[in-house]
Amino acid sequence: MSELNKIALKIISDGKGILAADESNGTMTKRLESVNITSSPENRLLFREILFSSQSLKKYIGGVILYDETINQTTSFGKSIPNLISSSGALPGIKVDTGAKDLANSSEEKITEGLDGLRERLKRYYELGARFTKWRGVYNIGDKYPSKLAINSNAHALARYSALVQESEMVPIVEPEILMDGDHSADTCLKKTSEVIKKCFDELISHNVDLTGIILKPNMILPGNHSNDKISSEEVSQKTLECLKNSVPTEVPGIAFLSGGQSEIEATENLNLINQNNDTKFIMTYSYGRALQQNALKVWSKNTKDIQSTQNTFNHRVKMCSLAAKGRWSNELENK
Ligand code: 13P
Repeated sequence: MSELNKIALKIISDGKGILAADESNGTMTKRLESVNITSSPENRLLFREILFSSQSLKKYIGGVILYDETINQTTSFGKSIPNLISSSGALPGIKVDTGAKDLANSSEEKITEGLDGLRERLKRYYELGARFTKWRGVYNIGDKYPSKLAINSNAHALARYSALVQESEMVPIVEPEILMDGDHSADTCLKKTSEVIKKCFDELISHNVDLTGIILKPNMILPGNHSNDKISSEEVSQKTLECLKNSVPTEVPGIAFLSGGQSEIEATENLNLINQNNDTKFIMTYSYGRALQQNALKVWSKNTKDIQSTQNTFNHRVKMCSLAAKGRWSNELENK
């Protein structure tokens, strides 16, 4: 077993998953302002250190993805953020892309940037304690989208990123996200997601990336958020498994889904059924941002001094997601 494979398994085994707390300052500002909290470095740190010092980190979270600002911060009780995370047994990770920019010659699509100087930045993040990283390629579905240009160029960037990250002895999370926006059917999402993921693996293989030392972070197969095609959780799980079986090489140890705008309950229920129906060898778990933090953020915003209630809300959500990662979640447990 390679060192990278060991790290990947440590993050996602035994019902553990990933807390995606790597919102850029722009995105975090939107999240905080939506609950009437000013987005200052202090407030961003305050909310995050409450989550990172929660009990649930010890049992259910294998890794926390951070943003550059956060990995450099020190908590109000004097511990560095990477130390706080490691002291609960989870591994600190870091988002290393610098964001999705307009793709030249295809103005409605995006290309993720951040390769320039990446080798040097990775060295610094490793010294700060990071043991895994994230890079997100983003694709929209439309009549002509995602185009071959967007599929090929984002796959190429994800592969160059992954090779550099493994060279730095860290595990790359490979995240090709097909957005939920639009009126497309679940079958269109299935077709496009399969095409995008297959191209990513073609490029990863061309760049000699060790597939046993990555974690894939895909979207689930869902109809667009403006689609009339409403499907059951059972169908979501079947289509998601069909997609991954057809497009992910068997060497990959695990898949950690993004929540992508699903509610906390939807993201939990869908993951639960994916695991109940999982007839693959892939570990299937969560790498949720909004679906782990949404309710905790609401509770915190009502009284930012009420650490206990914020942590109780977060602990419950994480526990439910961990049960779902083992296929053992139920509505009864959710409401207990
Ligand atoms: P969501 O779960 O909120 O989609 O965030 C996950 C993530 O890391 C997106 O890049």
